[in-house]
Amino acid sequence: MSYGRSALTRLANKTVFITGASAGIGRATAWEYAHATEGQIKLILSARRVENLKDLQDELNSKYPSIKTFIGKLDVSQKDSITPFLKTIPEEFKDIDILVNNAGKALGNAQVGSIETKDIDEIFQTNVIGLISITQAILPIFKAKNAGDIVNLGSIAGKDPYPGGSIYCASKFALRAFTESLRKELINTKIRVIEVQPGAVETEFSIVRNYGDKSKADKVYEGREPLIAEDIAELIVFSTSRKQNTVLAELLVFPSDQASASHVYKKPQ
Ligand SMILES: NC(=O)c1ccc[n+]([C@@H]2O[C@H](COP(=O)([O-])OP(=O)(O)OC[C@H]3O[C@@H](n4cnc5c(N)ncnc54)[C@H](OP(=O)(O)O)[C@@H]3O)[C@@H](O)[C@H]2O)c1
Repeated sequence: MSYGRSALTRLANKTVFITGASAGIGRATAWEYAHATEGQIKLILSARRVENLKDLQDELNSKYPSIKTFIGKLDVSQKDSITPFLKTIPEEFKDIDILVNNAGKALGNAQVGSIETKDIDEIFQTNVIGLISITQAILPIFKAKNAGDIVNLGSIAGKDPYPGGSIYCASKFALRAFTESLRKELINTKIRVIEVQPGAVETEFSIVRNYGDKSKADKVYEGREPLIAEDIAELIVFSTSRKQNTVLAELLVFPSDQASASHVYKKPQ
């Protein structure tokens, strides 16, 4: 995709830090930055599954020999591991320009009263505490140069809560409140705070939500035309390649068969 006449110049040689880059939207975003800059980009790619990151790194290097990538294991739910991780980032990647806070998940569809405590903890530690902790750690870099983009992966679940999603929805509401406060706090800076709020995107998200049960996950999309990870990746790259004074503050993105969290058209099978 072409992002407009100046996008390549605006993005070239920037350093992008993506959490949850081992799959889905995070992985697609790494590729999209590589395509948009023809490999003139530095990527810090983190997640728990380092083997996936290694494959991604090899594929990126083979398609774009000029690309610079640093991969590292980071479990964002372990907030005490964030500072040690950041210390392992090589010097040439340390001047981060774009932070994509993408790592996140839902677990199960249980209703209040029956939700596993460990699922509540994991969702909040990942989607909320992890994201806040990484943002806190990176923000001084942006403040020091009065520049930088923070892209947070929210969700329609952060605007439109639904039964069976209380914890995930609450986590994305928390993310949205944090994101809005941050944007207001940074009003006198050139730092942009962007929230992308997807509807249904077919990734590993539903498999994770259904504890690895692929057939249950597939049912979610039966008779539907969900977005794919690349659709969201394009919007992340688009929003961070606008001219500096343009802030795409919120991007609510649905597939055409969806109009709210639960208002979904299903074609008869
Ligand atoms: N798919 C959708 O329909 C949808 C809709 C709205 C919003 N979103 C949001 O979009 C973001 C990306 O989701 P996706 O659809 O791409 O899901 P996905 O395919 O399951 O990918 C999730 C990514 O997050 C990483 N991750 C999970 N837990 C982590 C942890 N504790 N520490 C570090 N990384 C972790 C995973 O890597 P590892 O397992 O290797 O750590 C993976 O790379 C999430 O924030 C999600 O809430 C998705």
